Amino acid sequence: MTSSTTTVQRLLLAALAACGIGTAAAQETYPAKAITWLVPFAAGGPTDAVSRNVAQRVSAALGQSIVVENLGGAGGTIGAAKVARARADGYSLFVGHIGTMAAAPSLFKSLRYDPNQDFVPVFRFPDTPMALLVGANSPYRTATDLFEAARKDPGKLTFGTAGVGSSSHLAAEHLASVVKVQYTFVPYKGTGPAMADLMGGQIDAMLDQTNVSLPQTQGGRLRALALTSQARMALFPGVPTLAEKEVPGFLASTWYGLYAPADTPAHVIDVLQKAYAEALADKEYVQSLEKQGIEVLPAESVSADALGRFMRSEQEKWQRVVREAGIDPQ
Ligand code: MLT
Repeated sequence: MTSSTTTVQRLLLAALAACGIGTAAAQETYPAKAITWLVPFAAGGPTDAVSRNVAQRVSAALGQSIVVENLGGAGGTIGAAKVARARADGYSLFVGHIGTMAAAPSLFKSLRYDPNQDFVPVFRFPDTPMALLVGANSPYRTATDLFEAARKDPGKLTFGTAGVGSSSHLAAEHLASVVKVQYTFVPYKGTGPAMADLMGGQIDAMLDQTNVSLPQTQGGRLRALALTSQARMALFPGVPTLAEKEVPGFLASTWYGLYAPADTPAHVIDVLQKAYAEALADKEYVQSLEKQGIEVLPAESVSADALGRFMRSEQEKWQRVVREAGIDPQ
């Protein structure tokens, strides 16, 4: 959206509000048609899975369809740039995450959107911890095996990612820098296709979110060597955390949030937030998320304000990590 359009829209809204019309009518009617949530990664990955799950519940609470659209590429930044230019009317929303909304400004020299200026936060989704994964036929049984192999032959082991700046890439770079090993990163348009190659033996390892790796590890198609969570997870029996032994203090979790183009009317954000709060009030729903390896956050962490504050702290964190890991911005 151009700045002149935005100004004209603001003036129109102000004029309508002054006459006492427009805002009230819009409040009554939103959402009057299907809403699109753009997921900036391939279908079948963790962002897609969490988004479809939350969208289904929010849609039921709103009584309106939510269409989840996938547009992968460039670590999710192609999708972000598209929604940054969409109409700010509440019908085009974006699923942002740790990469697109926090790390991307430090990783890309010419990002085509500004997470702080072009978007407003709506609410924060549940988080997903990650698992260090290898294929079922891999020779590596522990994280230490994998690190030792990488130390012996720097750059030989291949690590799948969902693209530069994706959560799977950020966590893997962070881990490699802490453990002081080198991998060759192989970017995909999402961890869905990366995981397919991991199962097929085309790549050696990856760090992926627990919500999509759980069925694959339970089904014996992948082996989880370690978890990036603070504590072990009952869903991954016998799998240690990296923090408890191999990499003390190492934690990595993927966070996501719903974002709207800047200038989206406040009442639209309000309607969406209320629908999400209604979904989270259902205890059975929350338990069903936890059974999938998805971590539901306390109510005070999910609001638009909380997401905005958290996102800014994450931007500072990733600026530091990118610098310390010596990752060259693209
Ligand atoms: C990521 O690594 O950033 C996400 O897992 C990407 C995806 O959802 O495929």
